[in-house]
Amino acid sequence: MKVLLTRKLHDFAVKELKRKYDVEVHTGKIPMPKKLLISKIKDKDGLICYPYDSIDSDVINAGTKLKAISTYSVGYDHVDIKTASKRGIVVGYTPEVLTRATADLTMALMLSLFRRIPEGNKLVRSDKWKTIFGPYEFLGTDLYQKTLGIFGMGRIGKAVAKRAIGFEMKVVYHNRTKLSKKEEENLRVRYVPLDDLFRTSDVVSIHSPHTSQTNEIVNLKLIKKMKKTSFLVNTSRGKIINEKDLVIALKRKIIAGAALDVFQKEPISGNNPIAKLDNVILMPHSGSATVETRKDMAEIAVKNLVLALAGKKPVYQVVI
Ligand code: DGY
Repeated sequence: MKVLLTRKLHDFAVKELKRKYDVEVHTGKIPMPKKLLISKIKDKDGLICYPYDSIDSDVINAGTKLKAISTYSVGYDHVDIKTASKRGIVVGYTPEVLTRATADLTMALMLSLFRRIPEGNKLVRSDKWKTIFGPYEFLGTDLYQKTLGIFGMGRIGKAVAKRAIGFEMKVVYHNRTKLSKKEEENLRVRYVPLDDLFRTSDVVSIHSPHTSQTNEIVNLKLIKKMKKTSFLVNTSRGKIINEKDLVIALKRKIIAGAALDVFQKEPISGNNPIAKLDNVILMPHSGSATVETRKDMAEIAVKNLVLALAGKKPVYQVVI
C-alpha cells in the first residue's frame, strides 16, 4: 500500500510506516500546495496530514484509492469529514494525548495575563525599570477567587477546569450539552448560558471545536458583554473569534487583554493589526507543542493509520 505524509513526522514514526508501506514524505513547501497534494494523493491508500492542510473534497475525491486519513491533531475541521465518510474513508485523529499540554499552556497564558509576565520580562531587560517593590509597583491580579468561564467543556475544557480549581478559581462553563450533575459536582463547575459566561467571567477561555455553529461566535456583540477588567484566552481554533472585532475591543479597551495561541489565518504576518497591540499575548499555535506530547501524537497518528488500512477500527476515529 502507498502512504503520503504531507510533512516529515518523527523518525521512529516514519521508520514504522516504511516497514509496512511504500511511503512518500513531502519535504517541500508547507503547507503542501493543493495542486501537488492532488497529484500525489491519486495513487495513495493512506494519508497523514496536519491541522494546516486543507483536506477538502477536491483532495479527497482525487484520492480514488484512499482508505484512511490520519490527522496529527485533535482538531479535524481541516478535513471534509462528510466527503470522507461518503467515500467510506476512515478518519483518525489524536485526542487525549494532547489534553494536558494544551490545558497547561492555557493556564500559562492566563497567568501571563493576570501577572503581566511578558510585560515584566520586557521591562527588566529595558533600562526603564527604576523602582522596586513599591505598594503600587507592577501590580497584577490574583487568580484566587476569580471566575473562569470555559466555553466548550470537552476533554481540554475539563482539564483546564481542574487546573483552575487548583488555583482556587470559580469555574463556570458553557457547552452544547450540559454535563451530568455528578460530573459538575466532581469538577466543581457550574453551567451558565453563553451571555452570562461572557458577562460574569474575569477570564473566558475557548475550548470548543471549530464548527459551522462556533464559527466567529465570539464577536464584538459578545465581547461587549465582558467586564472591562476581563481577559480572553484562545488555545482552540482562531476562527471561533472574529479577529477584527477582537482588535476593535482591545484597541478600545472594552476588555483588559487577550492571549491567543491560534488565529483565523496562520501564521499571521507582523503587519496583522493584532500583532501591533500591547494588551495581547501571542503564541505560535503551540498548545500541544511539548516533546512528550508531540511524540505521543505521532504514535497515535501512525497507529490510527495502520489499523484503518488493515480494515480495523483506529484508536481514535472521527465519527459523524
Ligand atoms: C490540534 O491538535 O488540533 C492542535 O491544534 C495542534 O496543536
